[in-house]
Amino acid sequence: MPVQIGQKPESDFFNPLGLLSDCHRRIERFLGVLVKISEKRNGAELPAVEQAALETALTYFRNSAPKHTSDEEDSLFPRLRASREAASALECLDKLEGDHQAAAKDHATADSLGTRWLAEGKLAAAPARELGQALTRLSSLYARHIAIEDAELFPLAAKVLPEADLAAVGREMADRRGIRK
Ligand SMILES: [Fe+2]
Ligand SMILES: [Fe+2]
Repeated sequence: MPVQIGQKPESDFFNPLGLLSDCHRRIERFLGVLVKISEKRNGAELPAVEQAALETALTYFRNSAPKHTSDEEDSLFPRLRASREAASALECLDKLEGDHQAAAKDHATADSLGTRWLAEGKLAAAPARELGQALTRLSSLYARHIAIEDAELFPLAAKVLPEADLAAVGREMADRRGIRK
């Protein structure tokens, strides 16, 4: 049985584009958790179950989500850039990398404020607002960004990249997670 990441993955490292889309579902799910808690509690004291959910979501974005960015920036995008058939996507790839940088800033804010919330039990009004604003920006960024990757970029990659390139992307994704295929 192929090695998989995540709880209920639909894909494996032999289907790297499917895995990348599975990661998008996790990003949406964990970002949804952060938004829900931030909106519902607005910095107030959290019940234990929400503390655990906040911790899990923060940990996901701190440890796992950056690997997804590397999967794209270091494995998939360079192969698309090298493909003559994907010449029309070059500008799109630059924009997607710009999104990654913008998202990293807001993730850093969310991580630091979320960690403070957990450590101190509460967040004052100003940092609670700042957290909510960072999460709102992330929600709209990812809605656009993920739609482009899932609906345009990954189908293009499936069309233009040779099988050997896709296999190499899958191998690099497995290596990044210390998994042997
Ligand atoms: Fe991306
Ligand atoms: Fe992505």
